[in-house]
Amino acid sequence: MSGSKLSAQSWSSQTVFILAAVGSAVGLGNIWKFPYITGEYGGGAFVLVYLLCVFLIGLPIMLSEIALGRAGKANPVRTMAKLAKESNSSKAWALVGFNSVMAGLLILSFYSVIAGLVIAYFFYSLFGSFSGISGEVAKQMFADSVANPWALLFWFSLALGLTLLIVARGIKNGLEKAVNFMMPALFIVLMILLVYAIFSGSFGESFAFIFAPDFSKLTWTGVLIALGQAFFTLSVGLGAMMAYGAYLDDKASIVKAGLWIVGLDTLVALLAGLVIFAIVFQQGLSPAEGPGLLFTTLPIAFGQMPGGWLFGSLFFALVIMAAISSTISLVEPSVAWMDQRFSIARSKSIWILGAIAWLLGVGALLSFNYWQDLKLLGSRNFFDSLDFLTTSIMLPVGGLFISIFMAWIIKPEIRGEQLGSSEFWMSVFLVTLRYITPFGIIVVFAYNLDERIASWLMAAVAIGYLGFVIQKKVSEQS
Ligand code: TRP
Repeated sequence: MSGSKLSAQSWSSQTVFILAAVGSAVGLGNIWKFPYITGEYGGGAFVLVYLLCVFLIGLPIMLSEIALGRAGKANPVRTMAKLAKESNSSKAWALVGFNSVMAGLLILSFYSVIAGLVIAYFFYSLFGSFSGISGEVAKQMFADSVANPWALLFWFSLALGLTLLIVARGIKNGLEKAVNFMMPALFIVLMILLVYAIFSGSFGESFAFIFAPDFSKLTWTGVLIALGQAFFTLSVGLGAMMAYGAYLDDKASIVKAGLWIVGLDTLVALLAGLVIFAIVFQQGLSPAEGPGLLFTTLPIAFGQMPGGWLFGSLFFALVIMAAISSTISLVEPSVAWMDQRFSIARSKSIWILGAIAWLLGVGALLSFNYWQDLKLLGSRNFFDSLDFLTTSIMLPVGGLFISIFMAWIIKPEIRGEQLGSSEFWMSVFLVTLRYITPFGIIVVFAYNLDERIASWLMAAVAIGYLGFVIQKKVSEQS
């Protein structure tokens, strides 16, 4: 028997859905990744592009994903297949769902490596290792932490194990309780850090670095990374929000939820960036420190401030929770899929999925030590290759198809039913989703290909898309 019924799960209220979705969105992407790539790609101009991508590309896709999820009420593969059928379109749309299952596992692997490091740092803080350390010592501490593959393996396995344990218990028991407490607490600790940064760090410099755009520092690669980051940080492009939307009550407002999720996620990223760069400049560190940025800056702050031992431990504990409330949503699409497609229970499927993610994760953690010199995609190591392939390719491509599906393919009645906003906002939404969102993604991709073929390819794609739009318009009118 195929598990055709959706597991009898649902969120207990709209607020809980928002909390869980914010839990998915806010994570290492905001606190660890956003600051370090902002540093690597030069600050202000990068941040501006990132914000544009968040609001013009990420937000419309976020709304689409939740709406599609709630309309389909199943895992992303089945949701897409079902909605495509209802809208008299090809079954191939289910491929969007498969992208979701695969990208989720790939991200889970390298993400859990960093989540593991955060667990290690929680214990460092608890044992007082940060007190009075300098920038140099903090850098050495990070270097030592990643040099030892066995320690990394231990922390990584712990992080992955925790995620799988929670997913196995289903969304109600595991997830809701954690996010309820975590989100407000994380915000308070960030505020404490912000006060510290304003009084003890180079806050003005940090502010300028993030908000004063210097376009000479912006490259097309930077734009692609910013686009990918917009997807990554909002948890869109993959179907995670689709999977979560499937459990959302029909009365809840998707637009309101979407705005909260995107707003809070952006706020947390900017706050984390402001705090971290204030410490970078005060300590004379380099903004382009790479993935170790979070781990070399915040310990210095915790080591200096009164009560830093407590706040440090609390902070890293909260980041662990933020990470785990995100990793859960990376596994949810595949777990729901295995449940509904093959009737494999959650408690079993997590072993299969966990094993795949674990193997990939071992490769990711070896990139910090034994495999340091192994180069894959565009001279990236294994860790960065996984990151690049998922964040900068699979998520935007997934998002592109989700936006096209929502904008052109799905029956307009379903769209109206789900989003149900005023005619004015619906047309703003549709215009953005039809023209700005897909073109934005295509342009960024095209410019990142080989320069000579980029413009040709872009022109071809643009003409193709235009033809498609015209044909749609014509058939709509007839
Ligand atoms: N958004 C999370 C973060 O910023 C990461 C994440 C969780 C994610 N689920 C996702 C990214 C689904 C893409 C798709 O840390």
